[in-house]
Amino acid sequence: MPRALMLHEEAPRCRVIDLASTDLPHRAVSVDIDYSDLNYKDALAVTGKGKIVRDYPFVPGIDFAGTVRESHHEQYAPGDRVILTGWGVGERYWGGYAETMNVDAEWLVPCPQPLSMRKAMLLGTAGLTAMLCVLRLEAAGLPAGSAVLVTGATGGVGSWAVSILHHLGYEVHAVTGKIEQHDWLERLGARQVLDRSEFEGQPRPLEKGRWIGAIDSVGGLTLANVLARMEYHGLVAAVGLAGGTDLPTTVMPFILRGVSLLGTDSVMIPFEHRRAAWHRLSALPNGLFERMAVDEIGLDRIEERAEAMLAGKVHGRVLINPKR
Ligand SMILES: NC(=O)c1ccc[n+]([C@@H]2O[C@H](COP(=O)([O-])OP(=O)(O)OC[C@H]3O[C@@H](n4cnc5c(N)ncnc54)[C@H](OP(=O)(O)O)[C@@H]3O)[C@@H](O)[C@H]2O)c1
Repeated sequence: MPRALMLHEEAPRCRVIDLASTDLPHRAVSVDIDYSDLNYKDALAVTGKGKIVRDYPFVPGIDFAGTVRESHHEQYAPGDRVILTGWGVGERYWGGYAETMNVDAEWLVPCPQPLSMRKAMLLGTAGLTAMLCVLRLEAAGLPAGSAVLVTGATGGVGSWAVSILHHLGYEVHAVTGKIEQHDWLERLGARQVLDRSEFEGQPRPLEKGRWIGAIDSVGGLTLANVLARMEYHGLVAAVGLAGGTDLPTTVMPFILRGVSLLGTDSVMIPFEHRRAAWHRLSALPNGLFERMAVDEIGLDRIEERAEAMLAGKVHGRVLINPKR
């Protein structure tokens, strides 16, 4: 009987329970889950602080890596190593906070050989999204070795963005609200660490241009400040809303400096883009994984870590081993 974290509308919201196999959704591929992880969206779902989950009872978890147990789809066979991220899993469809889950074949990506299941979820949606941002910036013409700003730098997306950009030879400038993590961000590869407070005031329409590229997982006033401080033809990948969904800016960065705002989505991105991004991720050297901060937990600690994440008390990655 697979164990799972089940969300209920009435208290207690989070319960670790044993599921009967017959409780699992009827979908083509049954996967034994080795690892899942905790993303910002998971934290909103688990705590109920965001309107992510609408149907109860519900198994959250927007991503997982695991091994196919049984398949009714020609593309997958028992023993195949697979990754799932996005597609509304953990939002509309039961997700990865379980020992086994049944999913649609179209939601899966084969796990590239060099990646262990653990490494795949050390990256998870966060690493995939950071890589999608890098690919978006590169496709838009980000010059090699240029200065790139990363906001929300100690978060999952942010810390992978710092590591990957540094590995690829960019000069990374990291923005964080966690002063105590400055040294760690430098170890990940940040050339300079900036205090979040510098990005929280209302900016003038244009400030001194400092960066040619940026990856922003914060939104709100932070993104407005980033846009105002981009150099001529600057490129900004906007990917998150940890600081707000509004964007109090003007058209000036766009029409006077030719700045581009590049929206980046990992949830519905087509299969071939995902596979290409995972291929790039699988070539990352071990050192990047060794330097990532990891808190590995079982299903029973997810609720506590989700609260901590929304309170800004988590850095790096929270890895979930459902068998722990
Ligand atoms: N578009 C997509 O497909 C996609 C995919 C993945 C994630 N996302 C979004 O990207 C964002 C980050 O996700 P994540 O999983 O990396 O979350 P996370 O691990 O919680 O990281 C978010 C980081 O943002 C910073 N932050 C938090 N609250 C803030 C505030 N009020 N003002 C300014 N900065 C704040 C913090 O970094 P510091 O303390 O270092 O400043 C925090 O660590 C979320 O909004 C998430 O929904 C989008």
